[in-house]
Amino acid sequence: MKAAIVQKAGQPPVYADFADPIAAPGERLITVTAAAISQITRARASGTHYSSTGAFPFVPGIDGVGRCEDRSRVYFVLPRAPHGGMAEQTVVPKARCLALPDDLDDVTAAAIANPGLSSWAALRERAHLRAGDTVLVNGATGTSGRLAVQIAKHLGAAKVIATGRNAATLQSLTALGADAVIPLVGDGEALEERFKPHFAGGVDVVLDYLWGASAERLLMAAAKAGAEAG
Ligand SMILES: NC(=O)c1ccc[n+]([C@@H]2O[C@H](COP(=O)([O-])OP(=O)(O)OC[C@H]3O[C@@H](n4cnc5c(N)ncnc54)[C@H](OP(=O)(O)O)[C@@H]3O)[C@@H](O)[C@H]2O)c1
Repeated sequence: MKAAIVQKAGQPPVYADFADPIAAPGERLITVTAAAISQITRARASGTHYSSTGAFPFVPGIDGVGRCEDRSRVYFVLPRAPHGGMAEQTVVPKARCLALPDDLDDVTAAAIANPGLSSWAALRERAHLRAGDTVLVNGATGTSGRLAVQIAKHLGAAKVIATGRNAATLQSLTALGADAVIPLVGDGEALEERFKPHFAGGVDVVLDYLWGASAERLLMAAAKAGAEAG
């Protein structure tokens, strides 16, 4: 079969022949129709992700959508290495295949799963978001951040505050549900001053996609707003 293949560390994938996958007991053989170029797939392909194994060659792509041998349509995650999503076929343990609703197309399902889960799992499982909470998404202009704004609203957040450095994209988030936006521009102190009134008004959950300088200022603004409130 044809596949994208990473042959050595640091080399871009090549389009070439790869051994046909054979499903073992408990696995599904999947004919792939869509696979996402997510951050984790890119990091694994370049060998820089903490879960990179260092074993070559392999097919990149941690997830995707396809048809099983019984023609059922599934989203799959974590195929059995060296197989991956970016191939004509792949093999995946049955427990990591999920039936898809008819009104969700293959490409959208493949594209939203990993970035969408980053906020869905964080807000529901970690932060235990409650209806009426205020959520601040730091770095909301990327795929994950844009989904996070929408998912926070979907899960009942009363107010979502979005930050980003791209002014046009940041402004477009208001149409997706953001109630306030904070541009990540200027020096650190100016940024801290911009964060402060939001924390003084109360922020229940911060979802941070950036770390670094903006997260540092965000933490300082939160601490100072809390101290000033007594
Ligand atoms: N744990 C998980 O399950 C999980 C899942 C998905 C993603 N993630 C992580 O979440 C992060 C975002 O992923 P993504 O899929 O949203 O990537 P993406 O679509 O490439 O978006 C990245 C965004 O970050 C912005 N950005 C980068 N550096 C910035 C900086 N210094 N200041 C302000 N904005 C900055 C970019 O802004 P510009 O547009 O202005 O360049 C872009 O909008 C990555 O670290 C990824 O690994 C984790």
